[in-house]
Amino acid sequence: MKTLKLTLNPLDKKSHINREIYSNFSEHLGRCVYDGIYVGKDSDIPNIEGYSKDVIDAFRQIKLPVLRWPGGCFADEYHWKDGIGEPSSRKKMINTHWGGVVEDNSFGTHEFMRFCELAGCEPYISGNIGSGTVEELSQWIEYMTFDGVSPMAELRKKNGREQPWKLKYLGVGNESWGCGGSMTPEFYCDNYRRYAVYCREYSGNKLFKIACGPSSDDYNWTEVCMKKIGPWGMQGLSLHYYTLPTGDWGHKGSALDFSEEEYYNTIDKTLYMEQLVTRHGEIMNRYDPEHKVGLIVDEWGTWYDVEPGTNPGFLYQQNTMRDAIVAAINLNIFNAHSDRVYMANIAQAVNVLQAILLTEGNVTIKTPTYYVFDLYKNHQDSTLIYSHIENEEASRAVPCISQSASINEHGEITVTISNCALDRGFDVEVNGFEAKTAAGRILSGEVHAHNDFENPGCVAIKPLDIRIENGKAVVALPACSVVEITLKG
Ligand code: AHR
Repeated sequence: MKTLKLTLNPLDKKSHINREIYSNFSEHLGRCVYDGIYVGKDSDIPNIEGYSKDVIDAFRQIKLPVLRWPGGCFADEYHWKDGIGEPSSRKKMINTHWGGVVEDNSFGTHEFMRFCELAGCEPYISGNIGSGTVEELSQWIEYMTFDGVSPMAELRKKNGREQPWKLKYLGVGNESWGCGGSMTPEFYCDNYRRYAVYCREYSGNKLFKIACGPSSDDYNWTEVCMKKIGPWGMQGLSLHYYTLPTGDWGHKGSALDFSEEEYYNTIDKTLYMEQLVTRHGEIMNRYDPEHKVGLIVDEWGTWYDVEPGTNPGFLYQQNTMRDAIVAAINLNIFNAHSDRVYMANIAQAVNVLQAILLTEGNVTIKTPTYYVFDLYKNHQDSTLIYSHIENEEASRAVPCISQSASINEHGEITVTISNCALDRGFDVEVNGFEAKTAAGRILSGEVHAHNDFENPGCVAIKPLDIRIENGKAVVALPACSVVEITLKG
């Protein structure tokens, strides 16, 4: 087997890797919230106060930092007052974006905030500026965060919550260029500025306001936002980019049934994230050289045709080793750009798009993507260090290897490496750090390998053998694999 040399330099410290890069997204879409996160108190599915216990445990296991809610496009039609008070008397509405199903609003602000407490993550609220009003968004913040006497604080208390919640992350609009109001960037920025004035910081609560950023390569959108809102008006600017194997929204391709050519196309398309983050970052640098505004990649991941026989509006798709490789590559890109990428939220948490969990009745399965988040969790709040690895082409300019290395406050090094090649494995020899102890974990399998409700344990993390040769750690990196190595000096 060919040996690739990985060179580390722990003294060459780059940027802080915010744990928020490992965040997720939950929308009232298909079975993400209802049947996924929230199963109801009377359900046979093991639950804590109605929230799926499996989901809570799984989120805790990967140390999920932040969860975005309630959308997505759903957020642009969400009126938060419909989702408070006695659940049985809450207003029912049509979820026009996602399948036209009835949304009974039984999962609202209190339920979301409680779920975050149970799952140990921070809430990220996506505000409605598409079909909502300035007053509505302003009152929502007052309702959640004001610790005093005011109409909204009184209403919150009447609904059973005495203490305000802490809310840091606030999205001021979602996809305002599309489902969030079909705005021009200029019109959006004017709106942002108006809404943001009334997003008050009550009772010591500091808001991190996130402006709606571009779709994919709409560099003009970024330019206008940086010029008209700038670092004085926002703390984050979002970016949405989905990986479609074909690049064609009309025929995205199957999650399970794909050719080798489609696979490499998928990897090629996902690698485009590197260019997007770089070029949007360059524009941001011109207006914000001090990097005060974080790039918030709050929707990313694969988007395939829905599983046959499922509701087309529910965006339910399976998840294979291909998705694991996609996740590994993107997370390595975000780590590499952590001087600008402050947060990233894969779409979505449960049962939707590149989900980390899939549920059916009382069975919850962890997808290959979930396991990548587990393999990468030690990067959270570590410092990116210099790393370089020898590489070669897997297919048509798609490189085999993607890697990332960080050091934590105890001097422990975490290296994550993926090999997207389907026809070859490598040995990787670690240079530049003499480890006294080394440990590793691996996720690998045939590229179509996945977990389903008959075989929930088909793809899972296994221990990785590490050999020490001439004082250097050497690991085997099979075809289609993702590994985590931890080194202690
Ligand atoms: O994640 C699914 C949808 O994709 C979101 O609702 C929307 O913001 C994006 O277009």
